[in-house]
Amino acid sequence: MNVFKLKSELEAFLGLQKKENKTIGFVPTMGALHRGHLSLIESAKLKNSLVVVSIFVNPTQFDNSDDLKKYPKPLENDLKLLKQVKCDVVFIPDVKEIYSKKITSQNFDFDGLELEMEGKHREGHFDGVGTIVKKLFEIIKPDNAYFGEKDFQQLQIIKKLVKKLNIPLKIIGLPIYRESNGLAMSSRNSRLSEQHKKAAPFIYEVLRDTQQRFTSKTPKELTLWVEEKFKNNELLQLEYFTIAEEETLKTTENIQPNKNYRAFIAAYAGNVRLIDNIRLQ
Ligand code: PAF
Repeated sequence: MNVFKLKSELEAFLGLQKKENKTIGFVPTMGALHRGHLSLIESAKLKNSLVVVSIFVNPTQFDNSDDLKKYPKPLENDLKLLKQVKCDVVFIPDVKEIYSKKITSQNFDFDGLELEMEGKHREGHFDGVGTIVKKLFEIIKPDNAYFGEKDFQQLQIIKKLVKKLNIPLKIIGLPIYRESNGLAMSSRNSRLSEQHKKAAPFIYEVLRDTQQRFTSKTPKELTLWVEEKFKNNELLQLEYFTIAEEETLKTTENIQPNKNYRAFIAAYAGNVRLIDNIRLQ
């Protein structure tokens, strides 16, 4: 496994690989890797000659400095896991290498996708995500890039970024990886207390129940029902629940037969913010 800290060295290495017509699959991460990340890497390995994983906790996508400070950074363990899944290349730049002197985001217009859900609750988050993902795409120039559907809004925004900027690569979204109790895998789960760890699978239970009721209740009824369920749960605080159309991510009232919908949740378990979603049909 080749580990690079400098973009010039990574670019030189990947340039040689490209000359040999090798295809590059890219999995961007912020580290604290779990099975969900590894499943993205495994999918990337099946379709590309070479898989590059980046580990970079991107400061510009955090609207809360405490969240950034507490973000887990188990680098040694991450590298061990990456070796186990036979990852080819790891890029672990420091902040200066990516941002030089100015740690700021570019402003993006994602046709309104950035204004929904996470965009309403995490100021500047998607400008930060767009900025880092664009920079990484420019350095790595992958043929395919892999993202999990847990951050479904992020996935749609990155598809939009690539389309609007004409970046020649394919974005591949893969299903959410869950613990056996249903909790969506997330690097943030490691910060949950024992009590909150036990409480958190409730989020997926509610999503499953929503999915089952989707054909017999309106989105409004389902939203009120979910809000009530969270009010009765002392360990989890609901930030938002919404049923939205997959392409526009707009909250919907009227279900149309030719469109796809998802239910989205953000909730706090103690001071850990968790998100999850489910496809409705
Ligand atoms: O999903 C993440 O881990 C991050 O948002 C990403 C895509 C690596 C950008 O920092």
